[in-house]
Amino acid sequence: MTAPVIELCDVSRRYDEGPPALRDVSLTVRAGEAVSVLGPSGSGKSTLLNLIAGLDRPDSGTVTVDGVRVDGLGEAAAARHRRDRIGMVFQFFNLLDDLTVADNVVLPAQLAGMGRGEAARRATELLEVLGVDRHAGAFPGRLSGGERQRVAVARALMNRPALLLADEPTGALDSASGEDVGRLLADLNADGQTIVVVTHDLALARSCTTRTIRLVDGGITADTGAVESAR
Ligand SMILES: Nc1ncnc2c1ncn2[C@@H]1O[C@H](COP(=O)(O)OP(=O)(O)O)[C@@H](O)[C@H]1O
Ligand SMILES: [Mg+2]
Repeated sequence: MTAPVIELCDVSRRYDEGPPALRDVSLTVRAGEAVSVLGPSGSGKSTLLNLIAGLDRPDSGTVTVDGVRVDGLGEAAAARHRRDRIGMVFQFFNLLDDLTVADNVVLPAQLAGMGRGEAARRATELLEVLGVDRHAGAFPGRLSGGERQRVAVARALMNRPALLLADEPTGALDSASGEDVGRLLADLNADGQTIVVVTHDLALARSCTTRTIRLVDGGITADTGAVESAR
């Protein structure tokens, strides 16, 4: 078995008034796995991703990602954790509209202190792999939704993250572009990238993940289990 990339131990999170957004969630995801998290709206899927990313903290329990306890990190350390270990992809792409595609992709590497030349080379290579290199000099607003999501994936991969997190990555795409993103995620996982994708889209879950976790009211009600990985 490969090393754990995510370890959640008895994690609970509750926002002020409401019921717990997550209750006693324990979960291990190993290197090379591709896991989908399914569940109705409000079941705690985004809360789970935010805790893994260090964007939020649990009320109790521990969150360990790539060997680092993230539940106790301060803001600056949590930001470094995200920058160095995690790539994130969102429903609405979250690209910076006043930067070119290439500059969007290069940005995380600049923040991490990668040299300009090396960062530019890696960005070009990623845009090529993702099939959007001809848009390198364009602004994101000129691209289709599917192309924007490819650029967002390139940006997420820039710092070679241990973990790629995607929150409803096809939620704003037409079905053909959604299938395209599914294939892309499947290819990345075939190359060894560990992926967790939150989605409503069963077809996406089937196309790019080998393990499915179901969340209901903040608790895991089903987990098809880790597939033994030969990698
Ligand atoms: N910042 C917040 N403040 C208060 N309640 C929140 C906040 N974020 C999420 N919640 C609540 O926590 C629960 C889980 O939300 P969320 O994790 O966003 O679910 P999902 O992503 O599955 O739709 C919901 O009841 C939601 O209303
Ligand atoms: Mg959500």
